[in-house]
Amino acid sequence: MEKLPLSINAVLKALSYVEDPDLKKDVVSLNMIRDLKIEGHQVFFRLVLTTPACPLKEVLVRACENAIRQFIIGSPEVHISVDAQVTTRHTDRLILPSVKNIIAVASGKGGVGKSTIAVNLALFLAREGAATGLLDADIHGPSVPVMLGIKGVRPEVVDIEGKPKIVPVEIAGVKVMSIGLLIEDAQAVVWRGPMVSSALKQFVSDCQWSELDYLIVDLPPGTGDIHLTLVQTVPLSGVIIVTTPQEVALADARKATAMFRMKPINVPVLGIVENMSYFVPPDMPDRRYPIFGEGGGQRLADEFGVPLLGQIPLSPALREKEDQGTTANPLDLPEVIQTAFCALAREVARQIAVQNATFERSEVSVGA
Ligand SMILES: Nc1ncnc2c1ncn2[C@@H]1O[C@H](COP(=O)(O)OP(=O)(O)OP(=O)(O)O)[C@@H](O)[C@H]1O
Ligand SMILES: [Mg+2]
Repeated sequence: MEKLPLSINAVLKALSYVEDPDLKKDVVSLNMIRDLKIEGHQVFFRLVLTTPACPLKEVLVRACENAIRQFIIGSPEVHISVDAQVTTRHTDRLILPSVKNIIAVASGKGGVGKSTIAVNLALFLAREGAATGLLDADIHGPSVPVMLGIKGVRPEVVDIEGKPKIVPVEIAGVKVMSIGLLIEDAQAVVWRGPMVSSALKQFVSDCQWSELDYLIVDLPPGTGDIHLTLVQTVPLSGVIIVTTPQEVALADARKATAMFRMKPINVPVLGIVENMSYFVPPDMPDRRYPIFGEGGGQRLADEFGVPLLGQIPLSPALREKEDQGTTANPLDLPEVIQTAFCALAREVARQIAVQNATFERSEVSVGA
């Protein structure tokens, strides 16, 4: 292409060559370029991404700068401010209307680290700048309050249009709600079947969530009543399946994945997270020991044709913080763990953005 003199149209033309590699469309068609203006030899605009946790933030900024330099005469100075507007496909205005994307964290086997993944995913999404909530739906064994050190905190109740609503507790920028904050320990374990379902339904509708980009839902293990109630009550954007690398955990994760894909349930499986993937000795940070075996998470992901969203190392420091209830400050964690959770948060945000874009496109093609 021939170089063009500086003008709004020429800049848009140059930027139309920059493609978002995930969404497979150019940044102009995706409506990512806003408030474009030219002052003398300088170009200013906002680049509005589909998530603040965008793994391609730097790549896209650089590609925009390069395109303008390459296609505009005299290589103008480019000033880009990066912004984000998280997309949604949630159109139900009755249930959780202020929440854009609801993501459940599930597993087949117990104790593989669902709560650990749910809590840290929420903390790291918030750290990336996303408005994030965490709903602990493990009615029999809520562990979120313990991990975040908010056990015993009583959430505020406010009156909204004549109805009492429970306000989630805020910690480290995450809005948190757990049934464990409402009832005594001993009460939780005795709930059964229909009681659990109605309690969960009430619990979901009685909370006053603020505007959220992502609400992470920590599920109990297995594939029982709570799972069915949740998928029937809440419009889930997708589910993340947590497994450890051992064959026993994989077998159960396989069952859970298949359940979410069953016709009457039909929740998109966003991908697999492999927890306790390997151990990095604190004194030898270059070494990785795959204590529970290697490649299990990837095999499961391949089998179901979904991405492996992340691999979280086995970390005694992580376990210690969770037991002490000091998880809320992820900056205290060893770097290798922080890197893994940060990558996971970005990958989940990316999958949601891709899924929402695909949905929008298919909507458009249906109407056309
Ligand atoms: N990557 C990890 N490194 C070290 N310890 C971990 C890791 N992930 C989880 N743990 C520890 O393993 C135990 C179980 O984790 P967690 O409670 O997150 O699992 P869960 O799947 O939610 O369990 P449940 O099925 O009972 O709900 C906890 O003590 C937690 O601190
Ligand atoms: Mg749990």
